[in-house]
Amino acid sequence: MMENEQLKLRCWKENDYIDYYEIVSDSDVCYSAGCKAIENLEQCKKEIVYKIKCNSSFAIELKDTKKVIGFIGMDDIIIHKNNENATQKYIGFMINKKYWNNGYGTEVVRIFLKYLFHKLNVDLVWTSHYDFNYKSAKVIKKNRFKYKFSKDVNTKKFNKENVKELFYLITKEEYDYNNIGK
Ligand SMILES: CC(C)(COP(=O)(O)OP(=O)(O)OC[C@H]1O[C@@H](n2cnc3c(N)ncnc32)[C@H](O)[C@@H]1OP(=O)(O)O)[C@@H](O)C(=O)NCCC(=O)NCCS
Repeated sequence: MMENEQLKLRCWKENDYIDYYEIVSDSDVCYSAGCKAIENLEQCKKEIVYKIKCNSSFAIELKDTKKVIGFIGMDDIIIHKNNENATQKYIGFMINKKYWNNGYGTEVVRIFLKYLFHKLNVDLVWTSHYDFNYKSAKVIKKNRFKYKFSKDVNTKKFNKENVKELFYLITKEEYDYNNIGK
């Protein structure tokens, strides 16, 4: 099960679109993740239908209230050619701004890593953040990912001159070592 005492990661349901809208209509939240805010509910409904079909994104539900406060997703892209034969995932996550700074981001990555390494049996998990995204950096480092490399990104969508994306990796061996006895 992908859960802890407070949070549950579950498949999307069609009627999640209002909670989803609350998350992705916030331009600050989207800016940090490098995407555009979504301004209408109809678009959110469509995206939820797509998420239900492709099964690689999970809603983060607050167990107490059943509200969806964010999402976490995985992708099969190969981040670095040195690792191309390993089974691997790239993960990304987003939390509704009203719920930031409660430890949810850190916890949700912790829950998802357990699922990826011990249910899906992947060898490696990658993630990344933009250099200005200190909160995401904290979540990543607290989950003991190791920094690997950076690359310059196209700054068109940012109001900055230079932006780097920093990539991090955690292997199954590292994950298991960090979690011995837990
Ligand atoms: C990055 C993001 C997911 C972090 O979510 P979050 O739920 O606020 O994360 P956490 O609460 O676990 O950690 C963030 C901060 O809370 C603090 N914190 C951790 N546990 C805490 C707790 N139990 N109580 C209070 N604060 C806590 C952390 O120390 C950290 O502190 P900081 O304010 O000095 O940075 C969120 O900011 C977000 O959605 N950003 C936009 C999208 C994005 O950037 N996604 C990542 C790129 S893929």
